[in-house]
Amino acid sequence: MLWAGASLLLRPLLLLLLAPGPGACFRAPFAPPAVNISLDEEPEVRWKPLLQDFDVNYLKAAAAEVIDSTIPKWVHHALTPVVESLENYIPQPYAGEIRGLASLFGGELSDIIMLNFAYEVTAFCTSIIAQDKDGHLYHGRNLDYPHSILRNLTINIFFLKKGEVAYSGTSFAGYVGLWTGQSPNKFTVSGDQRGSERLWNWWKNIVSAILYRRSPVSWLVRETLEEAEDFQDAVMRLSKVPLITGVYYIVGGVQPGEGVVITRDRKGPADIWPLDPVNGGWYRVETNFDHWLPPPARDHRREAANKALNATGQEHINSDTLFKVLSLYPVCNGDTVYTTIMSAETPEKYNTLVRPQGCSKTD
Ligand SMILES: *[C@@H]1O[C@H](CO)[C@@H](O)[C@H](O)[C@H]1NC(C)=O
Ligand SMILES: *[C@@H]1O[C@H](CO)[C@@H](O)[C@H](O)[C@H]1NC(C)=O
Ligand SMILES: *[C@@H]1O[C@H](CO)[C@@H](O)[C@H](O)[C@H]1NC(C)=O
Repeated sequence: MLWAGASLLLRPLLLLLLAPGPGACFRAPFAPPAVNISLDEEPEVRWKPLLQDFDVNYLKAAAAEVIDSTIPKWVHHALTPVVESLENYIPQPYAGEIRGLASLFGGELSDIIMLNFAYEVTAFCTSIIAQDKDGHLYHGRNLDYPHSILRNLTINIFFLKKGEVAYSGTSFAGYVGLWTGQSPNKFTVSGDQRGSERLWNWWKNIVSAILYRRSPVSWLVRETLEEAEDFQDAVMRLSKVPLITGVYYIVGGVQPGEGVVITRDRKGPADIWPLDPVNGGWYRVETNFDHWLPPPARDHRREAANKALNATGQEHINSDTLFKVLSLYPVCNGDTVYTTIMSAETPEKYNTLVRPQGCSKTD
């Protein structure tokens, strides 16, 4: 119960840190801090640059809030063996990075482990891949998550090898996986939670993660960004490698037609849905439901995005118009934490904006 104790202790601090000040008012979308993480450094120390942008007490309080509100207490006990023997259950470099983060935060190892599992199950999202008339690809995503605190933890990360950007992405301080990323001049990836997997599947997911050493979905994104040679290779890896839970992977490449939505079961692909520009399929929208089924009646994100893309038209699609589509309510909604627009052939234009208040109907 160490972590529960820790978060109880942190609670007053948390309220102090997280309460909106008297001056709280409308804030425009803003670019998150950028952090360089050198893959040439040992995993245990490579996240140290985080402390240039974040206060340790703030990070601790935020981690406690996410863990408290996301993870049932009993999961802590289920994870005890992992805490006691991290390297036996979690592959490198993640084991080393998680250990390093725990010492950086000055907190419990179990908290950082759980923080890293917490984000695996609850990300609601919209991803869009689109191709213009000249064959250029644009990939956009909204990440929706019901924790306001994440807006202040969002970071753009540049993973460096020998001082050069090997790959980059957007994530949260303290989290070693990626839900959004780019391998420059090769491909872009985003992950969206698959609706059929719900919180009560936590137990199954954790057990399979431990027993079968399956990959959390955000670790596979990172590995693919690091290792895949090109779009085809990325699609192959993202389709096949066993995962702890189902997910949608949206992938964009650099050649015309290189865009796909992969619907993942834990064991392998359930469906592959590529762009089909010749037959009018110049974009694909994925939210959190299988594309061949209607979404739940209360969820209008897919329809709103399709309608806005139809109204934009292939002749007018670009980074700016795609951002506008991802800014429309309810595609962007009260839970939207950030929006990223990327295009692998112009990696320097990678752009993430945090939405301080999300979006509401009246915006
Ligand atoms: C995030 O940071 C801003 C500015 O520093 C602050 O006003 C706001 O209260 C913070 N939000 C949360 C949820 O901590
Ligand atoms: C991050 O790395 C890039 C590429 O080496 C470099 O140009 C940039 O100045 C670095 N930024 C920081 C904040 O260290
Ligand atoms: C968008 O256009 C496609 C192709 O013309 C059409 O099949 C689809 O119904 C349209 N969707 C919406 C929501 O307008």
